[in-house]
Amino acid sequence: MRQAGRYLPEYREVRERVDFLTLCRTPELAAQVTLQPVDRLGVDAAILFSDILVPAPPMGLRIAFDPGPVVDRPVRSAEDVRRLAVPEIEEEVPFVFETIRIARRALSGRVPLVGFAGAPFTLAAYLSEGEGSRTFGHWKRMLYGASEIAHGLLEKVTLTTIRYVVAQARAGAQAIQLFDTWAGLLSASDYATFALPYARRVLDAVRAEHVPTIYFALDAAPAAAFVARCGADVLGVDWRSGLADAARAFGTGVVLQGNLDPCVLLSDVSTIRARTRAMLGDGAQLRAHIANLGHGILPETPVDNAIAFVEAIKS
Ligand code: CP3
Repeated sequence: MRQAGRYLPEYREVRERVDFLTLCRTPELAAQVTLQPVDRLGVDAAILFSDILVPAPPMGLRIAFDPGPVVDRPVRSAEDVRRLAVPEIEEEVPFVFETIRIARRALSGRVPLVGFAGAPFTLAAYLSEGEGSRTFGHWKRMLYGASEIAHGLLEKVTLTTIRYVVAQARAGAQAIQLFDTWAGLLSASDYATFALPYARRVLDAVRAEHVPTIYFALDAAPAAAFVARCGADVLGVDWRSGLADAARAFGTGVVLQGNLDPCVLLSDVSTIRARTRAMLGDGAQLRAHIANLGHGILPETPVDNAIAFVEAIKS
């Protein structure tokens, strides 16, 4: 999950000097921020500091962050899709791979480094809608009314994302997490049509590099039977499902990751401990469980509460 960011004073200090995209594009700084949660929280893995929109400019789109992503000219037509490039990603965003190499050296085996990308459905949702949205009406109009254009966009995003995650693995990422943050926009059958096949191709490409995969589809419990077919080594679970229930719904011996509601970290230490213990009890029935939040940490989280969460798990 997202574990660096504005809740950390040392992150805000870096951000006072540079804007978010400059931070992503400056390997020394991005590597420094990658290590901040490891040092501060004592978590068992570092997550590459970057964003799922980083591959968008090489495809030919202008993006900004305010604080979420905004696409200058969203992809709405067949002509827009035709104009998109499938870039030579290693040449276009060398800073990502350099950040991975610097972070690996700085970690020197202390904890593994997780790389990541947006799953094709979720990245395409931003490229088409232009920004986060409650309904994603532009994107869904394309999905339902002009599905061949949507599949054309998904295809180019998938080819780009495959190159991107393979390059991360080759630069030294020791696992790759694919974020399907907007999977919950879809019915189970539309998830099977527009999200699953594309995510699966990206995960397969990572597996061919002998790097383990994590797939996180937010709010996608109704599509669990399809999510289970993505081929990832680990499935992320949000807080809406119990872990044991999720394992039954996935119907496999897969490893689960999750799933405390990030809002629990806005409460108090005794609540955090009790809720974490309950989550671990649920997870104890699984073949294996990676304790985590059920989505990214919120900017308003008190740092001491994040520390209490990690300590509760370790104890
Ligand atoms: O340890 C880490 O934090 C890893 C870095 C990371 C970021 N974004 C940095 C970031 C990761 C893994 C992401 C993934 C990401 N980005 C996702 C998928 C995961 C998820 O949370 O669902 C999505 C949907 C995005 C798109 C995005 N980028 C949004 C919605 C926002 C606004 C977030 C907010 O908190 O308001 C961003 C900007 C962003 N990406 C920030 C960070 C630390 C905040 C930027 C700032 O400093 O102003």
